[in-house]
Amino acid sequence: MTGGHLQIVICAAGPAADVTQLISAAQKHSWTTTVTATPNGIDFIDVPAIEELTGAAVRSSYRVSSGDRRSLPAADALVIAPATYNSINKIALGLADNYAMTSVTELIGRQVPTVIVPFVNAALAARSPFRRAVASLRDEGVRVLLGPEDQWEPHPPGSGKDRQRTFPWTTAFETATGLAHAARSATSGHG
Ligand SMILES: Cc1cc2nc3c(=O)[nH]c(=O)nc-3n(C[C@H](O)[C@H](O)[C@H](O)COP(=O)(O)O)c2cc1C
Repeated sequence: MTGGHLQIVICAAGPAADVTQLISAAQKHSWTTTVTATPNGIDFIDVPAIEELTGAAVRSSYRVSSGDRRSLPAADALVIAPATYNSINKIALGLADNYAMTSVTELIGRQVPTVIVPFVNAALAARSPFRRAVASLRDEGVRVLLGPEDQWEPHPPGSGKDRQRTFPWTTAFETATGLAHAARSATSGHG
């Protein structure tokens, strides 16, 4: 699918610093992007660099500090990456306790094609609340890239820095565009 708008939500984990890779992948395929960060996630990113690249304010609260009061474009797809243990559990429960979680909750409810890429270590991923959260999100139709079939596994505790280098930004984009294409075909009645 060529062209569309990708909403990106980043959480407070190391790979957030590399989100420009996702923005660049999208732009290469003529997609526009906007970035929303959780209140903790904002400390992990270079806000001016992202704003320069996307041409839009990074949002993390209901207040808009840069004076850019335009509402976000309608999203053709949503990628939540990196998604923390904390935010994945919250999204599965439907908690909307900050701007990012509120917009995620609503976009999933509107059935916007959604891809979540967790960045969690094996100790966190072993917890039953997390395993339940992933199962529940998948049940709801959210694509969670995790497990051997997605070639994206939780890393051993303490090895996040190494794993960060292989964060699957391109796969996240390709998965999101695939879902968006399928959704568009279903709506238009074309195969
Ligand atoms: C330097 C640093 C790195 C972190 N890395 C991760 C991580 O890789 N995965 C994770 O789930 N939490 C990680 N955390 C913990 C989260 O930041 C913490 O749970 C936070 O509350 C998540 O907020 P958010 O889900 O609203 O973004 C890290 C924290 C710090 C300070």
